[in-house]
Amino acid sequence: MIPAIRIGHLTLETPDMERQIEYYTTIIGLIVAERTPGKAYLTTRAGQLALELNEGAHAGCSRISLEVSPDLSGADIVKGLGNEGIAASRASEPFPGVREAVTFSDNKGTSIDIFTGGGFIAANQQSIGVGPIKLGHVAFAVTSPQETATFFTRSLGFRVSDWIGDFFVFQRCNPDHHTLNFIKGERAELAHFAFELRDFSHLQTACDILGSRQIQLTRGPLRHGPGHNVAIYHKTPDGLILELFCEMDRMSSEELGFFDPKPWHRDFPQRPKIWTRENNGSTIWGIRI
Ligand SMILES: [Fe+2]
Repeated sequence: MIPAIRIGHLTLETPDMERQIEYYTTIIGLIVAERTPGKAYLTTRAGQLALELNEGAHAGCSRISLEVSPDLSGADIVKGLGNEGIAASRASEPFPGVREAVTFSDNKGTSIDIFTGGGFIAANQQSIGVGPIKLGHVAFAVTSPQETATFFTRSLGFRVSDWIGDFFVFQRCNPDHHTLNFIKGERAELAHFAFELRDFSHLQTACDILGSRQIQLTRGPLRHGPGHNVAIYHKTPDGLILELFCEMDRMSSEELGFFDPKPWHRDFPQRPKIWTRENNGSTIWGIRI
């Protein structure tokens, strides 16, 4: 097992590159750091790679990158994954700012790039639009959330933070409540992806920026049950569901085993658990669906 530490970036396929670049740079507030034919690399204001846009026939997420300890070599990572029966290969300069990655396919067919070094490809800079702090998490529909959660625990050390019933699992690889989540669906596909904002006032600013561009929220504002993040959702020009959130639960100490106490919690302490529709599984406040 090779412990993942954080999510790096998503690779999104798009049939309309220019429209996505306009949206991600002027509304979401990312910055184009590099462009090559058919590709664009977008960073947060802190200069970390957050999205790779690839020209493709259909909108969707084809790859995710995950960062691991800088003490691990490519050979270590290949060996560690091999111990779990996962065939991985080493790739040189897979994306800007990274000299080498180890690549494998997860159990649902998404390519995973394991890297070290922080993923910085640009200097800290200002942006227009929302300007998120970081890429926070990505959610996939999968045919078996149980099998996929087990895969990510065995391969990359992800822990289970919460379940909703037996159909939606949230997994963490650092103090953040979830970096990956998996909901039961008929096929494996992107469900949504999410950027973290600074605080509630930043979320309000995001609502107003979206409103000024006539982009309707599809859900929220609301406070979720699992993770307790305050969240809003809308669709990108490609029809992907993008979440903006703040105030997500954090587990500062794995030894203590509960999330840092917050006044909006209903459990004391708030430990990983199985939520149900009856105990407000998806929403503490805000319209439930
Ligand atoms: Fe989410």
